[in-house]
Amino acid sequence: MNPDDLRRSVMAALAKINHPATGKDLVAGGHVQNVAVDDQGVARFQFMLKPEDPNELVKEARSAVEAIAGITGAKINVQLPQMQPPGGGGRKGGLKPGSVPAPTPKPGLLKNVSHIVAVSSGKGGVGKSMVAANLAAAIAKTGQRVGLLDADIYGPNIPLMFGVSRRPNVIGEKGKEMIEPLEAHGVRLMSLGFLLDKDQPAIMRGPLISGVLKQFLEQVAWGDLDVMVVDMPPGTGDAQLSLVQSIDLDGAVMVTTPQDVSTGDVRRAIKMFERVNTRVLGIVENMAGLTCPHCHEHIDVFGVGGGEALAAEMKVPFLGRVPLDPAVREAGDRGTPTVLSASGSGAGVALGEIAEKVLDTLAALVG
Ligand SMILES: Nc1ncnc2c1ncn2[C@@H]1O[C@H](COP(=O)(O)OP(=O)(O)OP(=O)(O)O)[C@@H](O)[C@H]1O
Ligand SMILES: [Mg+2]
Repeated sequence: MNPDDLRRSVMAALAKINHPATGKDLVAGGHVQNVAVDDQGVARFQFMLKPEDPNELVKEARSAVEAIAGITGAKINVQLPQMQPPGGGGRKGGLKPGSVPAPTPKPGLLKNVSHIVAVSSGKGGVGKSMVAANLAAAIAKTGQRVGLLDADIYGPNIPLMFGVSRRPNVIGEKGKEMIEPLEAHGVRLMSLGFLLDKDQPAIMRGPLISGVLKQFLEQVAWGDLDVMVVDMPPGTGDAQLSLVQSIDLDGAVMVTTPQDVSTGDVRRAIKMFERVNTRVLGIVENMAGLTCPHCHEHIDVFGVGGGEALAAEMKVPFLGRVPLDPAVREAGDRGTPTVLSASGSGAGVALGEIAEKVLDTLAALVG
């Protein structure tokens, strides 16, 4: 089929999908624009996604288009609504949609990435990587193009959480080589841990980390991404600070545990982000109680409400709590993030809701 006919088929497929709020189909409602199909059968179009629109719409559109015989792929450019005039309000009082400054276009390195979100914490072992992996997987599930950068040098944790153990390939001609991201469950993955030899001690200093990260971002063939999630190394030292400053973050998701809330670590971490003028998108309380597998009663092992109180105190949004859940470990063993392998589990549901809030917040940043 020639590209013109294919384009007509794409329009027809999109016209069969109705927007739940407006009741109009995606074409008539102007939700999709600039539909084109190239000689290779790749369909490209823009999808105007308002903050109140369900993200599943994009996924639905993608599936419908990709199901057309002759279409080899769909490149959907999700357009969030036009920015507010800049300068309106600050982030100090938390996130009020419409009152946050518009994000600046990403400089040089990551100009093909619409949004960059870091997942961070005051201390280690609180579930940062778990939250980052599930956030990325949940975003991929909505049909958006997502990358996950494991900025932890202690080993390629993130690829393993996605069931990938192979090393990345180097592509491109000599002198212009690029590192090809690994891909699993619709997420493009890369880990700083690949840069270290197995037996090399991970004693990289702050400036070195930032140098490596820059090189990394320059050399990874991410392609176009709607969202990039960065799994940060734990702590609030110089290394973390230079990392935050070398990427132009839209914001950070802070992970804490009920026990950790009372320590100064989370507060310090939040202050660190404020110092480098990075928005804290909100706090996730992880390992917040557990559900008895027998009687399904929820047991708050370390007390309840700490994360929420902390969020109020620090004037940042509270994104939700994730219970201790065997599904998380099983997901790790299987190499499939919980939102995909056990989306109905306690942790799976909580993580899905948190991802939705993060996406809403990102959308509100430009709307
Ligand atoms: N809600 C949960 N239920 C059950 N197990 C969990 C939960 N959250 C995290 N874990 C487990 O706790 C361990 C630590 O989690 P994770 O590696 O994500 O933490 P981290 O903050 O990234 O640690 P590090 O600081 O070492 O990078 C993992 O084995 C993970 O599977
Ligand atoms: Mg980690």
